Amino acid sequence: MSVTLVAEAPAILPTTEDFMSGVFEVQHPLIACHLTRLRDRTTPPAEFRQLVHRLASLLAYEATKDLQAEPVMVQTPLAKTEGRQLSQRIGLVPILRAGLGMIDPVLELIPMAEVWHLGLYRDEETAQPIKYYSKLPPERPVDVALILDPMLATGGSAVDALSTLRDWGVPHVKLLSIIAAEEGVKRVEVEFPNAQIYVCHIDPDLNDRKFIVPGLGDAGDRIFNTMDHGS
Ligand code: PRP
Repeated sequence: MSVTLVAEAPAILPTTEDFMSGVFEVQHPLIACHLTRLRDRTTPPAEFRQLVHRLASLLAYEATKDLQAEPVMVQTPLAKTEGRQLSQRIGLVPILRAGLGMIDPVLELIPMAEVWHLGLYRDEETAQPIKYYSKLPPERPVDVALILDPMLATGGSAVDALSTLRDWGVPHVKLLSIIAAEEGVKRVEVEFPNAQIYVCHIDPDLNDRKFIVPGLGDAGDRIFNTMDHGS
């Protein structure tokens, strides 16, 4: 599989042409350390949520480097100077449930972003995504959508979300996942070659239940403390 490492930051004022599709496995020591704690089966839900926050922030920092920012004048207490303001409508599209854990840190970085929820869960028998909620309006698509979901396993949920955003008419889509399986990344790359995929790590395998291996378990259950404590 071809994995593109994050390149140099684009110019201060990127244009639409700077939107480069591909897979970006973000290399950073902080990501590696936080991901290790996230994987640990003994990490309790409260710490797990904090780690998801930190990793979502670091991913979002990388994933937003090509957002367009237009010049704007600002008056400081001392003088007038030129600054920048975002010039695109940005939409965050968290996939319920686990994507909820990534909204706040990304909104912290892009306070004016719109949040459009999608509800998808994987059928336990078939591993196929089942859509149960969509808050997308019928018209006026955002310019750039950031799909937020900590996990990309078979890629079924991501492909479903990307199809929904394509139907809405979103020109640029970025998929932010903390952990991914090689199989799912390949599937998304093939079905949506124009999307950007930002991940903290790509794991090699899926087990027979389509869980990422080594992975981190079920992110939704670990965020919301709904693990089957009897097993
Ligand atoms: C998980 C995860 C993704 C999906 C990934 O959600 O958060 O949405 O599975 O799997 P896929 O790539 O094979 O589609 P889950 O179905 O566990 O729902 P939850 O977030 O409500 O726990």
